[in-house]
Amino acid sequence: MPESMPEPQAVCSPITRSAIYLVVTLNPGEAAAEQVRGWCADVAGLTRSVGKRSQGGNLSCVCGFADSAWDRLFGQPRPANLHGFREFGPPARRALATPGDLLLHIRAEHMDLCFELATQLMQALGDAVTVVDEVQGFRYFDMRSIIGFVDGTENPEGRKAEASTLIGDEDPAFRAGSYVLVQKYLHNMTAWNALSVEAQERVIGRTKLSDIELDESVKPSCSHSALTVITDSNGEELKILRDNMPFGRPGAGEFGTYFIGYARSPVPIERMLENMFVGNPEGNYDRLLDFSTAVTGGLFFVPSADLLEDLAQRTP
Ligand code: HEM
Repeated sequence: MPESMPEPQAVCSPITRSAIYLVVTLNPGEAAAEQVRGWCADVAGLTRSVGKRSQGGNLSCVCGFADSAWDRLFGQPRPANLHGFREFGPPARRALATPGDLLLHIRAEHMDLCFELATQLMQALGDAVTVVDEVQGFRYFDMRSIIGFVDGTENPEGRKAEASTLIGDEDPAFRAGSYVLVQKYLHNMTAWNALSVEAQERVIGRTKLSDIELDESVKPSCSHSALTVITDSNGEELKILRDNMPFGRPGAGEFGTYFIGYARSPVPIERMLENMFVGNPEGNYDRLLDFSTAVTGGLFFVPSADLLEDLAQRTP
């Protein structure tokens, strides 16, 4: 990363064992907006205060702002590609948009760290916001999603991760920022577990135990892996950075995946969603959706850490 680049938020921070995902809406009134702006300057300090109490705990927090709140909070200039969550797919299989102005993605090795930081950050937001969704995610065996397959294998790493997720010269006022898309999925585990392992492998496009990509000759074009690999006009693969986590309440029969994807533009993530929900070609949709329902959807802009602090001084 060039030295002149602002400091990003912890978008590319290492995978951890625990996470809390919080989506909140901004309450009406100028006092609420003023409070959230002031809070922007406190996020880094609170994260340091909680994180330093546990060595190796790897605590981080990324916060993002939705199109629905940007103008009210910060006015001009605004990130070039920030828009509302674009819905895809027919009614029975839809990537739907749900309310949310602010996203907090809190990660650490231990849930106590995530829990304490979420408590401190929510306390500092006070009555300026209303929580609309809160999910505690946990690492499940060897990086497996709740459906039993390793999740995250094909993530970009190192410089490739930064190049895929951090805004550069295409939007100079927002360099080192990022876009993040979240969806909360619920799985029908009874139907999923009724499939043979071989049938499940054809849905994902990889082997279950050894996590190896199926050979092109046997991998169906409607598999998750076939529909989420996309390329640019030069044939170069376009990567996003995911940090999905399982969540759930076995007693309530709830089994979920919290999908979270970062990219330097919403476009690649939206193309993947279109491939999955509409199909490529249309109708050739992702068979993972026969067992998984998206119940939330939000798109957020993640300012660089430097800009996040400066946003406290904005007057829209
Ligand atoms: C029900 C929710 C989801 C589950 C359980 C899930 C699970 C998985 C699994 C098991 C893999 C294979 C291993 C890996 O490379 O990570 C994978 C790959 C991938 N998924 Fe998902 N995923 C979900 C939703 C999504 C969504 C909504 C997107 C994009 C909008 C997405 C994008 C990708 C990408 C880009 C890959 C890597 C493809 C490759 O390069 O081979 N996933 N996912």
